[in-house]
Formats: sequence, structure tokens, C-alpha cells
Amino acid sequence: MDFSFLSKYYMFFLIGVRNTILLAAFSVFFGTILGVFLALMKICKNKFLKSIASAYIEFIRGTPLLVQLLIIYFGLPFNIPEIPAGVIALSLNSGAYIAEIIRAGIEAVDYGQMEAARSLGMPYSMAMKYIIIPQAFKNILPALGNEFITIIKESAIVSVIGVPELMYNADTVRGNTFRAFAPLIIAAMLYFVLTFTLSKVLRMAERRLKASDQG
Ligand code: ARG
Repeated sequence: MDFSFLSKYYMFFLIGVRNTILLAAFSVFFGTILGVFLALMKICKNKFLKSIASAYIEFIRGTPLLVQLLIIYFGLPFNIPEIPAGVIALSLNSGAYIAEIIRAGIEAVDYGQMEAARSLGMPYSMAMKYIIIPQAFKNILPALGNEFITIIKESAIVSVIGVPELMYNADTVRGNTFRAFAPLIIAAMLYFVLTFTLSKVLRMAERRLKASDQG
């Protein structure tokens, strides 16, 4: 296969990679903020807040990201440019998944930990802050890393509204060079390098987090 178009077009791929990383980073960042609120709403005793969070999470997880993206881009009464629309759609989507990551991470901490803290006289909020949340972190952080990897791949979908990330730029190269296939191979390789490196880094970080458990 002939990849000679790269000498002229490599910048499209490099800029695409940079934009994909930025897009995923911002989306997971805002998604985490949203996810914390949704997880708190789901854990709290207020039935109303609980059901709002559940409905939101179910809706997001039960509809395709592509549809959510197009609703935000075309369906709002005011126009938003492509890049903010892409970040908003990915963040709103990611927030629902992250909420479940956080909720599961907190609930995975053995209930005896809370009982022990409470029986030592700690109020609920103090037990949460000093006993439960620090342990939940070990469950949450690696899963957040996985979400980042997922969003790197899923962000390819925002190319349909014209966000110039890796997939969009690969498409531009396909159009300019009349090469339908080869630019896709380059894009695939670059996505793979991103996700594979990240998952290796994650696995190392996870091992460090676990180190204090053995002993
Ligand atoms: N491809 C999935 C969909 O269309 C999106 C999944 C998003 N996953 C995530 N962990 N944020 O519904």
C-alpha cells in the first residue's frame, strides 16, 4: 500500500490527534463534574433527585451518542458552533457513564467500613469523607481512565458535524487524495497508539494504587 500522501498530509493527522486528545480530555473533565453531581443525586435519600438522576442516566445510556449529538447540534433553539456542540454532547454522554462509575465505586466499599466508622462515633458525612471516599477512589480512578479511552474512540462520531478531530481530518485527506482506504489505516493506527499507550499507563497506575493493599 502506498502511503506517500503522508509527506504532504501528515499535519492533518497530527493536528487531528491533538484535537482528539483535547476533545476527550475536556469531555471527561466536564463529564466528571456532571457525574459527581448525578452520583450524589442517586445516592441521596431524596426520591425526587434520585429519580431525575436515574431518568437522565437511563436516557443517555439508552439512546445512541450520534442521536444525542445531532439533537444538540440541530435541535436547540439557538445555534452552537461545532466544537462546543461536540464537547457538550460528549460531556453530557460521559457524565451519565461516569455517574455510574462513581456510584458503583462508592457502593463497592464494604458496608462494614461505614458501620465501623459510625460505631466509633463519626457522623455520616465525616465517615464518608475520611473512610469511604478515599477507598472508593481506588475503584473510581482506573474506571475513569477507561472512560477516557472510550471517549477517545467515541469522539470520532463528532466528525459528522465537522469537528476537526482525527477522524474528520482523515476524511479530509481521503477527499483530497482520492484515496478511500489508506488514510483510514493511518487513523486507525493513531487511535490504537493513543488507546494502547493509555491503557498501559493506566495499568501501571492501578498497580501503584493497589500496592498499599498488600502488606
Ligand atoms: N457508542 C455508544 C452509543 O452510541 C456510546 C457509548 C459511550 N460510552 C461511554 N462510556 N461514554 O451509545
